[in-house]
Amino acid sequence: MDERIVDPVTAGGESPIDLSLRPKRLADFIGQSAIVANLRTFISAARSRGEPLDHVLLSGPPGLGKTTLAHIVANEMGAGIRTTSGPAIERKGDIAAILTGLAPGDVLFIDEIHRLSRVVEELLYSAMEDFALDIILGQGPSAKSIRLTLPRFTLVGATTRTGLLTSPLRDRFGVPFRLEYYGTADLEEVIRRSAASLSIPIAPEGAREIARRSRGTPRVANRLLRRVRDFAQVKGDGTISREIADHALLQMEVDREGLDVMDRKILRVILEKFQGGPVGVETISASVSEERDTIEDVYEPFLIQQGFLKRTPRGRVATPAAWKHLGLTVPKTALQEGLFGEG
Ligand SMILES: Nc1ncnc2c1ncn2[C@@H]1O[C@H](COP(=O)(O)OP(=O)(O)O)[C@@H](O)[C@H]1O
Ligand SMILES: [Mg+2]
Repeated sequence: MDERIVDPVTAGGESPIDLSLRPKRLADFIGQSAIVANLRTFISAARSRGEPLDHVLLSGPPGLGKTTLAHIVANEMGAGIRTTSGPAIERKGDIAAILTGLAPGDVLFIDEIHRLSRVVEELLYSAMEDFALDIILGQGPSAKSIRLTLPRFTLVGATTRTGLLTSPLRDRFGVPFRLEYYGTADLEEVIRRSAASLSIPIAPEGAREIARRSRGTPRVANRLLRRVRDFAQVKGDGTISREIADHALLQMEVDREGLDVMDRKILRVILEKFQGGPVGVETISASVSEERDTIEDVYEPFLIQQGFLKRTPRGRVATPAAWKHLGLTVPKTALQEGLFGEG
């Protein structure tokens, strides 16, 4: 299958262009103003005490800037950064090697931290809390436990959903931040800045049109910008106008609300097969042939935020706005769900 143009998840890391667009300092990080302000305070306090920053947990849907922020934290602390991910650390030995290899003050970035194995996670508890590593040498009755002292470090963990973290792990982060979808004005700024650094001519209305339809996600905005540029070069004079942006996005099946093919497929299943719901996420997943995790991490949060979908105890329910958006008549039951289906 083709890579989805609005896919906020990248397989195998960022492209070199994405890396070059990634802000390196807190001052260049657009939006998320509460997080940026708090980080600035905590970083400057830690620096003036000459201590590493407390452990930071970053959660939120893919493409909102978690990896970017982890690197910014290291930069602003003047520290080194070691990056890895939950699934990459398979055995106790792997995490022990990483931890003992850290220099004092280093940032250890663990992406997808909710996917750490249990044994690895348990080793992290004392590492995070006491900067110590308890390891057992030998086996059976002669086995003995020794405690290694680690340099003080900052763990930055990233996860798409904090709900997937065990509470002992979650509780060990002194600084938990939840990244929210970006507003259009912030995304416009992301696009303007990226267009400038890639030398792409763009009209303000063109930037706004792409921003509106980028699923609230900087990674999507940057990707759409590059694809729209292709249309501008081939179909226009190279400048991204509002018309060119609209035309290009429709060609790529990103509709005027920023929904893509899979978003609409999910809504259609709920509306047409299940009369608007409630319907379980497993059923949706089977009907659209997409992994449950991806539906829960990527699609649902956006559809909920846009007011097309609601999570209820009995399953997912489409809102009247979803019926209208797909050009279907809103049934009376859906109107009632819309009014009383809260919670
Ligand atoms: N606040 C921001 N300001 C500017 N660009 C951003 C911002 N957040 C993310 N980006 C851009 O979006 C891309 C994806 O961000 P990333 O940190 O990899 O997201 P995540 O780790 O949450 O999936 C980056 O390459 C960066 O260029
Ligand atoms: Mg990331």
